[in-house]
Amino acid sequence: MKATEQLRKEHETVRFAMRVMDSLVARLEQGETVPSAHLEQLLDFISIFTDQCHHGKEEEIFFPALESVGIPVKGGPIGMMLQEHEIMRGHIRALKQAADRWKPGNDELVAVIVQNARTYLTWLDSHIDKENNILFAMADMHLSESRQKSLFEEFERLESDRIGEGVHEQLHKTLHHLADIYLTDIDEMKEPEEKLVAWKIPPKTRHAQIFQRFEGLHPGENFILENDHDPKPLFYQFQIERAGQFAWEYLQEGPDLWQVRIGKTEQVNQMV
Ligand SMILES: [Fe+2]
Ligand SMILES: [Fe+2]
Repeated sequence: MKATEQLRKEHETVRFAMRVMDSLVARLEQGETVPSAHLEQLLDFISIFTDQCHHGKEEEIFFPALESVGIPVKGGPIGMMLQEHEIMRGHIRALKQAADRWKPGNDELVAVIVQNARTYLTWLDSHIDKENNILFAMADMHLSESRQKSLFEEFERLESDRIGEGVHEQLHKTLHHLADIYLTDIDEMKEPEEKLVAWKIPPKTRHAQIFQRFEGLHPGENFILENDHDPKPLFYQFQIERAGQFAWEYLQEGPDLWQVRIGKTEQVNQMV
């Protein structure tokens, strides 16, 4: 997978967590009681997934790679992104300090929590837009496919070194549990699934790219493959090369469009 694809994918998960936070904060604003544990769990997700992992990958791997191909730090988009990371960290610190002392009913601290959460969400929303639309577009122009791939591999190493095995899955489980509580609309409750449109990939590299996407999945994660014909040959290739490691579910079977959910199983040999 390309480094920019991975970062965009993480942005979708970050936005999903933002929707949960927005809803939790709205309940606080309306004077509803919210268990302090929920706020703590959400802040844990933000500080581990969003800050240590996602911002860590950007700051330690991705931005230096952009700098090395001539994109300036000072006075340029990288400098601005770094500055915004620090501003957001300030709001998360303030939120954590307030959350540590907060017990339901303490209205003064609720105001601090709400204000910092709202400001954080506003910054993060525009930050993600700038990265997706400006910085990543610049990266796609300046970084070769092979550089993007090696950056992605560095991301994977940072993630396992920084948070260790299994933590990522646990964080996602907790986030989905909170989403079940705080997001009411059925569409909102689903973490967005990124589609891979097979017919847009040149045939020569199509299967290789699909397998690359599969390798980037954590156990329990999946992606949607879209194609203009039944991707049966791909299924047979998965059966041969990844037997027992993948799940294959047709969401749409023609006549003009095929959609398949391809997932990585939690345990090898669990199912096909
Ligand atoms: Fe960023
Ligand atoms: Fe980002």
